[in-house]
Amino acid sequence: MPSVQEPKTESEQLIAFRVNGRTVSASGSPLQRLSRVLREQLGLTGTKVGCDAGDCGACTVLLDGDPVCACLTALGQVDGCEVTTVEGLRSSKVGARLQQSFLTHGAAQCGACTPGMLVAATALLDKNAAPNPNEVMDAIGGVLCRCTGYRKIIDAIVDVGANVDESPHEELPSPEAGTAVGKRLVRLDGARKVDGSEIFGADEMPTNALAVRAVRSPYHRARFQFGDLTAFVREHPGIAAVFTAKDVPGQNCFGVIPRFADQPVFAADEARHRGEALAAVVGEVAAIEALEISDFPVRWEELPPITDIDAALAARATLIHEHRPDNILVRGRVVRGNVEDALTKAEVVAQAEYETGFVEHAYIEPEAGFARRVGDQIEIQACTQAPYMDRNDIAAILGIAPESVRIIPTAVGGGFGSKLDLSVQPFLAVAAWLLRRPVRMVYSRNESMVSTTKRHPSRIRLRGGCTKEGKLQALDFAADFNTGAYSSWGPTVAARVPVHASGPYYVPHYRALTRAVHTNLLPAGAFRGFGVPQSAIAQEQLYDELADGAGIDRLEFRILNALDGNTPTVTGQVLGQGVGIRACLEALRPRWKAARLEFAEFNAKTTSALRRGVGLAGMWYGCGNTSLPNPSTVRIGLKRNGRIALHQGAVDIGQGSNTIVTQICADALSAPIERFDLLSGDTAITPDCGKTSASRQTLVTGKAAQSAGEQLRRAILKLAGACDCANIYFDDDGVTVRDGDTSQKLALARMPLDQYGYVITSEATFDPPTSPLDENGQGVPYAVFGFGAHLAEIEVDTELGTVRVLKVTAAHDVGRAINPTLIEGQIEGGVAQGLGMALMEEFFPGKGENLHDYLIPSAGDVPPVESILIEDPSPVGPFGAKGIGEQAVIPTAPAILNALHDAIGIRLKRVPATPDRVRAAILAKATKGGGTRG
Ligand code: FES
Ligand code: FES
Repeated sequence: MPSVQEPKTESEQLIAFRVNGRTVSASGSPLQRLSRVLREQLGLTGTKVGCDAGDCGACTVLLDGDPVCACLTALGQVDGCEVTTVEGLRSSKVGARLQQSFLTHGAAQCGACTPGMLVAATALLDKNAAPNPNEVMDAIGGVLCRCTGYRKIIDAIVDVGANVDESPHEELPSPEAGTAVGKRLVRLDGARKVDGSEIFGADEMPTNALAVRAVRSPYHRARFQFGDLTAFVREHPGIAAVFTAKDVPGQNCFGVIPRFADQPVFAADEARHRGEALAAVVGEVAAIEALEISDFPVRWEELPPITDIDAALAARATLIHEHRPDNILVRGRVVRGNVEDALTKAEVVAQAEYETGFVEHAYIEPEAGFARRVGDQIEIQACTQAPYMDRNDIAAILGIAPESVRIIPTAVGGGFGSKLDLSVQPFLAVAAWLLRRPVRMVYSRNESMVSTTKRHPSRIRLRGGCTKEGKLQALDFAADFNTGAYSSWGPTVAARVPVHASGPYYVPHYRALTRAVHTNLLPAGAFRGFGVPQSAIAQEQLYDELADGAGIDRLEFRILNALDGNTPTVTGQVLGQGVGIRACLEALRPRWKAARLEFAEFNAKTTSALRRGVGLAGMWYGCGNTSLPNPSTVRIGLKRNGRIALHQGAVDIGQGSNTIVTQICADALSAPIERFDLLSGDTAITPDCGKTSASRQTLVTGKAAQSAGEQLRRAILKLAGACDCANIYFDDDGVTVRDGDTSQKLALARMPLDQYGYVITSEATFDPPTSPLDENGQGVPYAVFGFGAHLAEIEVDTELGTVRVLKVTAAHDVGRAINPTLIEGQIEGGVAQGLGMALMEEFFPGKGENLHDYLIPSAGDVPPVESILIEDPSPVGPFGAKGIGEQAVIPTAPAILNALHDAIGIRLKRVPATPDRVRAAILAKATKGGGTRG
């Protein structure tokens, strides 16, 4: 850490203060943000910046012992003060204990919020040595986390307080070789997340890098013409260049699905959505920051935009893309049996229409990175979920071979699907390539929100029918998704939803039709569940209606209809084994029965405006791509020192693949975890493990890692001339093979190295076996499904319209729980996102594009979550494992909405169920004479 910075000009000041116990001086305006001084002058990048507006708390530091937002604290305010950042916590007893507790509790996932959380918790524990959970929630209430659902964070902090007089937590002992699977192993990349040394997209930049700033459309739709760009550059000292569509060396087009690629790096002539980039200004950092974007020479002609599905589908609507008739990007279809006939014959029929809006991913880390040209190669270091997909698109944009592009993923501060799409990368690539200078780009929170993908808004119409005994007969489902101006993952949503819209139940007669519809709003893309959370909101509420219509308990209705290994899915697939939905539903039965009784009693007795309700919902989700190849390749190498290099390209965005994949590989090889050296993500050093999405990494990359581990084991035994049943021992002395009474230490140090630099290299690829779907959507879309069911208990204030979730019980069939702590973390985080979707989150383009107006759940909003892990092994997955990431979010919102109906008898056509909508529905119901009990 530099201790003294000389002022550069007379107007700048030198301000001295103490940071983490050392006296430092920082130069510059006393008005500049402390967060910036810490990160850029003092190199303390553990302090994160998520909003620069006091909304996220990621930048929390201690100022003379009190927590403050460093982004709202001016340098001049800390003159002579003591500042403590996450890097300084380890020197205090409380800080060090907290860091260890966060690790053992699994309280850090992506880690972007972790420094702020740790600092806020330290401030609490310094004043209150043994806080209770409510005091903890108050203390961390200003620090947002999008990954964990807060429960493990609260537990970690309470645990430190509860054991304040005991010696610090020891690290959990490493499992014996061959026994890692199933253990609550501390995440292998966890230490960097709690000590502040993890490198995210904005944390590392070449010192001489120029800054890039995009010029974006302020209109949903507009034509534009540039003025004199050359004069603009000339008249602005420090500006090096402006790039527009005509400067793109290769194709001015990219997209996550090559067949549908349609998104320009820079709009040419017409912007199709607010926030679309039309130019990039590149220059010295100070010049870019001083730039008034209103000075940029562009003339706009605003055009009437299409902003909703009906307008887009209207006869003679303007086509947003000439080659896409009716503004329809793509249709999806799954049809089985005779749905009309079955609905006619059904003894109980229900129908409904539901709408959902855009949902913002709201990861704490805005997009960021840098690029540099190295000869005829380009290197991009940025946050991403899909390094190889990025590589292909950047190669096309620059007009060079994919092998000439190196993508180096940083740690990812949350992605949830949005960081599958390119963001900063095309601008960085074009600028670095053409200028031959390193360039950097860091999105502001606003820029992130106006320009990156969102969850698809949906409008769903459905009818269902069952017998009077409650056996489901038919479902007729039609959904339109507002996919925005460009395709992004619209085709995936349109294809995946019809396969899943039945829910995890046997529905003999079925028709599900979907359309992804273009509008002039920002592109909707991937967001945890690819449209299935939206369809589950509609389908699970409809099934409650059918159960009620048939006079059958809502849980028993679901159990009666649950898929098993012998009943065909709506695509005709018979799963055989690993169908754990019935077990998930049955696991909820005790709490379901108890809550029904308790809440009936509460509602009968209460004289207040509070009403309680309980709801549930089931879920299934196919792991990996829908009927498309999605292989992963894993390479492992035995080094001369007996250590094992694990090259796995699955990007860990907080979900834990770095740890899970290593656990699987270690057990396949029978090697201790600590013998592994992990190499992740970098396209120059790891094979392609595909994208981190669709709950595929545990299944697909995990299976490849298992095969590679087994292969290496066989190769070592062969090298030793030992039988398959021999044991291999890895330790500091190298590798020893014991075959019966014979023991042989391998002379690795003298052995030749292969092309990869290892004594032995093993590489394996796995691609889940699927088949294409026919014209009716019949076939095998996924090799493995995860199953689950959630039960939500809520309390509604009927005077205010507010809904408080009291508890969620979440049962998930994960096949095999490779690491129960990490799985619980996924479930708790999924519940928090589902709660947000049900009750508070809706993004309106052009309004509230910040974390002040767009609310996500904070610590006080998220209830206790009881996770029940069901292990019905998949015959395909590694050690029987299935995915969990997307699955966890799907049933929460419909369970809450069913609980809302249970409590006060209302169903909202449009979610989220915000207090104004709930209150309006209560009043409307009362006006009709129904009161609030239905
Ligand atoms: S960066 Fe300071 S509160 Fe968000
Ligand atoms: S772990 Fe909290 S934001 Fe990711």
